[in-house]
Amino acid sequence: MSPKKDETNPLLEGLELRRRPEDCTLVIFGASGDLTQRKLMPALYALAFRDLLPERFAVIGAARSEDTDEGFREKMRKAVEEHARDPFKNEVWEKLAEGMVYAQLDFSDDQAEGSLARRLETVDAERGTKGNRLFYFAVPPSAIGTLVRELAERKSAHGWSRLIIEKPFGHDLESARELNALIAESFGEDEVFRIDHYLGKETVQNMLALRFANGIFEPIWNRQFVDHIQITVAESLGIEGRASFYEEAGAIRDIFQNHLLQLVAITAMEPPIDFTADSVRNEKVKVLRSLHTPGPKSVVRGQYGRGFVEGAEVPGYREEDGVDRDSKTETYVAAKLYVDNWRWADTPFYVRMGKRLARRETTIAIHFKRAPHPPFAESAADGLRPNVLLIHVQPNEGMSLGIGAKVPGQGMRLQTVHMDFLYGSTFREGLPEAYERLILDAMLGDATLFTRADEVEEQWSLVDAIVAGWTRERPAFPNYPAGTWGPPSADELMHRDGRSWRSH
Ligand code: BG6
Repeated sequence: MSPKKDETNPLLEGLELRRRPEDCTLVIFGASGDLTQRKLMPALYALAFRDLLPERFAVIGAARSEDTDEGFREKMRKAVEEHARDPFKNEVWEKLAEGMVYAQLDFSDDQAEGSLARRLETVDAERGTKGNRLFYFAVPPSAIGTLVRELAERKSAHGWSRLIIEKPFGHDLESARELNALIAESFGEDEVFRIDHYLGKETVQNMLALRFANGIFEPIWNRQFVDHIQITVAESLGIEGRASFYEEAGAIRDIFQNHLLQLVAITAMEPPIDFTADSVRNEKVKVLRSLHTPGPKSVVRGQYGRGFVEGAEVPGYREEDGVDRDSKTETYVAAKLYVDNWRWADTPFYVRMGKRLARRETTIAIHFKRAPHPPFAESAADGLRPNVLLIHVQPNEGMSLGIGAKVPGQGMRLQTVHMDFLYGSTFREGLPEAYERLILDAMLGDATLFTRADEVEEQWSLVDAIVAGWTRERPAFPNYPAGTWGPPSADELMHRDGRSWRSH
């Protein structure tokens, strides 16, 4: 519920204190795809709704399929009605839609860019967008090469050109390096915005606020006080019709290589000297470089079989449309990682991620060491667990600190209780979608929440090392029923260390 006009909530201040971006045109390659409809258009609408878009703004949707400007606008309007977080207001939509056109484009045809360039010039002249261009690549990595080359040749003589590139950025270290090199031939790193939408999530950014805006956490944020860390990226969804992509990617390339490793980096990084793109990314790269390649015993992979998710029966992965009946693609990964540096040496980071798990839940749990010498009888502390700081990335965004407290009554009996902070009840305003923040940042030229070339390469080099170990053994898939918390071997990974996954 949004607050009434006369209600004042000081915590709301600052939520919308943003610079207005310079006038520009956003070109979306892959405009007929799912991402454009489910995320990008609703994000643009949310920005328009809050009057955060440039004064003069245009969108060119580019895709292979045949369409007209009117047809494209109509599809986008439906997408906004279906997926936007704000109510549909005709005047907001009309203002956004008046600068929206469609360009049919065959990405493999190097002549096609010519017609786009002409369209861009017309749009610039009609909308007054000053030659500033933001090219959004919502296309597979294979389609990026030709487009980037063509764009480089036709860079606007006036105004800026920036590239936003969706994940996956390459398929392995070699392809990511090639793509980085190709882009670097014509674009500076400050013109390239590699998306990892987890960095646009409020709760992920709040991790930086939690750690570096408070004096009390940093002194204990290290191996002396932290026993271990658990990071979970659980989804109840399956592969949602993306079999051809997922068969190639698997959980390790879809989630581990990017979202998961970014969560590790943000949790483990040293305080940056300021919040500029280079300072923050320098610190994250250091963490990624310090990650020790886990041995085969420290990595578990899984694939879901038939089961029940939220009460409904769902097929196994191998039964999904378009999936090989004998597929060896993993839909689950758990691993024990070590960040080999002074702060974290010997402190395990247990991570797990998977599709068709019991519930959607992304959490970062900092498990602190036990109090060294509690002066209570052992029986008094039966209900007591070591302190855990739990960051709920999603859903129910917020955090919770588990602390020991005395149960009221005679005698000394202790129990773990929770101090909670929930975004929903504290700030009341609904949280922005990650893509809103990221699109706006790219328009403003701020790359702090985007992945730098060396970062993405470090992420791939760890993934390549893990995947290389997998080619030697044949996995016994499926090994977990849909709707559970993953394969038993993931529990064993913890039990061997005398620990267990956080209960749900
Ligand atoms: C995407 C993956 O990057 O992230 C999807 O390709 C996954 O497979 C999605 O479902 C999860 O994003 P979110 O924001 O819903 O956690």
